[in-house]
Amino acid sequence: MGRLDGKVCVITGASAGIGRATVLLFAQEGAKVMAAARRKEQLEELVKECEGLPGEVDYCVTDVGDAASDANLIKAAVERFGRLDIAVNNAGVMDDNTAIADMSDEMLQKVFQINTFGLMYCLREECKQFLAQGDGGVIVNICSVGATHQTAGAAYCASKGAVLSVTKNTAYMYKDAEIRCNALSPGGVVTDIPLVMPPADEFGFSRTSELLNFSGELAMPEDLADAILFLASDQSRYINGVELKCDGGWTSF
Ligand SMILES: NC(=O)c1ccc[n+]([C@@H]2O[C@H](COP(=O)([O-])OP(=O)(O)OC[C@H]3O[C@@H](n4cnc5c(N)ncnc54)[C@H](O)[C@@H]3O)[C@@H](O)[C@H]2O)c1
Repeated sequence: MGRLDGKVCVITGASAGIGRATVLLFAQEGAKVMAAARRKEQLEELVKECEGLPGEVDYCVTDVGDAASDANLIKAAVERFGRLDIAVNNAGVMDDNTAIADMSDEMLQKVFQINTFGLMYCLREECKQFLAQGDGGVIVNICSVGATHQTAGAAYCASKGAVLSVTKNTAYMYKDAEIRCNALSPGGVVTDIPLVMPPADEFGFSRTSELLNFSGELAMPEDLADAILFLASDQSRYINGVELKCDGGWTSF
């Protein structure tokens, strides 16, 4: 028996990195997964790769920064699989490590549009669906150690700080509706993020890179997927409104 047998899940940022590894693990554990990201070809490849696993995987091309696209994602998941049980809000982008004085409007808007507004648009649609169903639901918001430690620039760290706040707010507001909402904060993970992030600002990076000395060995996306599975499954049934750091002890100093 899989740990997510028959559970209907939405996972954003599913085309690469942590999101992709989570789709594969959830399908292995018997879930019905609606995988969401912007890149259709990568999603199609992922669906093919999941064929033969115990669960079922379909995809919905989604730009999380667009509220209408997020509403469409939840609608598509419910139309395809009949309901929603679990949501993993994972899509996110890095900034260029700039401190506030040098931060551009463009960077602030881009990072908040995806990491904060995008996650909150998804969260809103997911909670509406859970409340309409009336039998609870589980949310895992992918945050970052940057929410509490200065591992990136002002825009990224603040965008993830807001993710932590809205996680706790949601857990509190809907406690009696049995909607669990937790945050999972990765440390350093081997994904595309370093490849797609903008060139680092010299001053900002000189500050954030001091912390890299404490990071130790980087995690693989599969290490994060295991922790996400724990927060998504009934094994964490009494855990609500917390931030679970999955950083190998990086921020334990
Ligand atoms: N990699 C790390 O070291 C690290 C550390 C801390 C937190 N995180 C967080 O983990 C999450 C996943 O990142 P990752 O490391 O797997 O990076 P990644 O770049 O490999 O994957 C990010 C995913 O999000 C998707 N995405 C980006 N913008 C999107 C948008 N507008 N709409 C839909 N999808 C979009 C990308 O296409 C990709 O599928 C992010 O929220 C990130 O902030 C990563």
